[in-house]
Amino acid sequence: MKKVHFPIYLILIGAMVAAISILPGCSPKEKAPDSLEGEFTYEDFEKPGTCGDCHQQNFINWEGSMMAASFTHEWDAVEYFQLALPHSQMLDEVSEVESGCVSCHGPLAYLAGDIPPPHPDEGGRVNEGVSCEICHFITGSTEPEPFNFSAVMDVGDTRYGPTGAGESPFHQIEKSDFLTSAEMCAICHDEKSPYGAWVKETYREWSESHYSQEGTTCQDCHMVAAGEGQSSGHTFEGPRSPERLQDAVTITLETDRPEARAGQVTTLYVNLENDLCGHYFPSGSSEERMLWLEVWLTDHLGEKHHLPVHSKGFEGEEYTIADSTALEYRDIGEIMGIEGFEGLSRDGDIPDGARIFRRPFFNPQGEMTICQWYTSDNTLVDYRFAPGETRQEMYTTRTPDGLSHGRVTFDVTLYYSPVPSSIGEFFELPAEDYMPRVVASESVTLDIVDWG
Ligand code: HEC
Ligand code: HEC
Ligand code: HEC
Ligand code: HEC
Ligand code: HEC
Repeated sequence: MKKVHFPIYLILIGAMVAAISILPGCSPKEKAPDSLEGEFTYEDFEKPGTCGDCHQQNFINWEGSMMAASFTHEWDAVEYFQLALPHSQMLDEVSEVESGCVSCHGPLAYLAGDIPPPHPDEGGRVNEGVSCEICHFITGSTEPEPFNFSAVMDVGDTRYGPTGAGESPFHQIEKSDFLTSAEMCAICHDEKSPYGAWVKETYREWSESHYSQEGTTCQDCHMVAAGEGQSSGHTFEGPRSPERLQDAVTITLETDRPEARAGQVTTLYVNLENDLCGHYFPSGSSEERMLWLEVWLTDHLGEKHHLPVHSKGFEGEEYTIADSTALEYRDIGEIMGIEGFEGLSRDGDIPDGARIFRRPFFNPQGEMTICQWYTSDNTLVDYRFAPGETRQEMYTTRTPDGLSHGRVTFDVTLYYSPVPSSIGEFFELPAEDYMPRVVASESVTLDIVDWG
């Protein structure tokens, strides 16, 4: 044992903290009985580069993945250090997120009890993110349907793998069926807020889909080997990869007539199908993922107009149609202590009238929020795409009287961005976090005929 000498003032501060924490209403944070918080030290875990000495391809793939950047990625750091952490210190109900966020985003710091962890700029080991050994030490979960980092871990000499075959001079090898199950991913990909709302439920969405019945797991779609005999893909690609995002939803167009008639209304039907995702799309951080449809008409004069979607009249529909006058996310101002903060544009710079396929989250005041930990309800409306779901949206335009020739074109594009542009601009995030990416696009041109 190392001998540690505490200066006297630290002992005094320690005594004061102890005294404060026994005052009524200031009870010390309770740790769940199965929690792994502080059960290990940083030294119990190898650095990913060490594994990379032998497992080169896995290391290169993983290094470029979002899971390797789960703590250092700018938006994650901003949301934790500027919103969640100060909030956890202001409001008892959310005090658990001080360590909760870290359990999934910087698991090494959580396991080492280094809470709150140092900021990414300080270069701590927390920056390793969801590293090799986090996954390869997990042997199960305390929950049959895992969430909130309910991991059971065997931290030691053995690395758990999909086959258990082979011999390594560096470590023991054991086969783990848990590693290749969807429950493995659910440990972090499903999250319940302190108010009991399911604020991430990719696993639960998947469990109810035909993919789960057919035994197609998360790994089957997100860890695809680059080729025969190659290591399983550790790129963990998601919608930030343009190739993967392409056609995650497909579009087909129909019009009510083969031509546009002068003096009459033409109707365009846009059919959209989620035929590749094993869960809702968007999934995961649904409070902030934006997926929206823009329909632009080029008229007989060559001028472009954005067409608003026809409303269907379901409850909560107003949240699914872009409105540049709508201000939300006022709790950001509350947490950051900004006087007179009126909120930020709910939909960023999406054109008015565009359909948004989203699931709004609401805080205990009933206001819309991107703070998933401050969410007490998100059941008002869910207009995302369920696995295999097809949706139809309707648009109309009237061709002026008396035209005997010319044409009109409908350009239809489905866009995705990780966060609303208003949030990205407010926090000065890198543009790639909120720039629109094309998921799918189609167009149709109709000749104008005069039937008068
Ligand atoms: C000195 C080389 C070496 C180092 C360093 C090393 N491994 Fe391995 N590892 C091997 C060999 C050899 C195997 C046997 C299978 C194979 O040939 O890939 C293996 C197998 C594995 C397996 C797969 C078992 C299975 O079920 O298929 C996992 C998982 C694994 N290692 C994880 C790690 C992790 C995590 C690290 C970093 C802590 C690491 N290894 C470091 C050499 C190494
Ligand atoms: C220890 C927690 C943890 C485990 C276990 C885990 N993930 Fe993740 N995963 C994360 C975090 C945190 C992120 C978000 C990184 C970010 O954006 O900051 C993430 C991101 C991802 C992404 C990228 C999403 C995007 O928007 O680009 C994919 C895909 C993914 N994980 C798949 C999986 C799969 C498949 C498994 C199971 C084999 C799994 N994850 C297990 C924590 C985990
Ligand atoms: C998010 C969890 C996760 C992380 C992080 C992770 N792995 Fe894996 N790894 C898996 C899963 C799941 C499999 C089994 C995939 C399958 O066969 O379906 C696997 C398989 C393996 C295998 C055996 C099959 C193969 O591809 O050769 C090795 C070796 C391995 N991982 C090493 C690593 C190394 C090294 C790192 C870090 C650079 C790492 N893993 C990071 C989840 C993870
Ligand atoms: C049938 C294939 C399939 C299965 C099964 C599947 N996914 Fe996905 N996943 C996709 C596709 C397709 C996307 C959309 C974009 C892309 O290609 O990454 C996606 C997107 C994601 C995203 C990003 C969500 C977003 O909107 O930002 C995460 C995270 C993710 N998947 C995790 C998982 C986890 C965890 C599981 C298992 C519980 C799983 N996936 C099962 C195909 C699949
Ligand atoms: C149960 C595990 C878990 C907990 C707890 C958790 N996260 Fe996450 N977080 C994830 C996963 C998994 C993703 C990726 C989901 C996706 O791709 O849509 C994610 C995504 C994010 C993103 C979006 C990053 C991006 O790719 O754009 C931010 C920001 C974020 N988390 C911050 C936080 C903060 C702050 C907390 C604490 C209040 C927190 N998370 C708690 C697992 C977790």
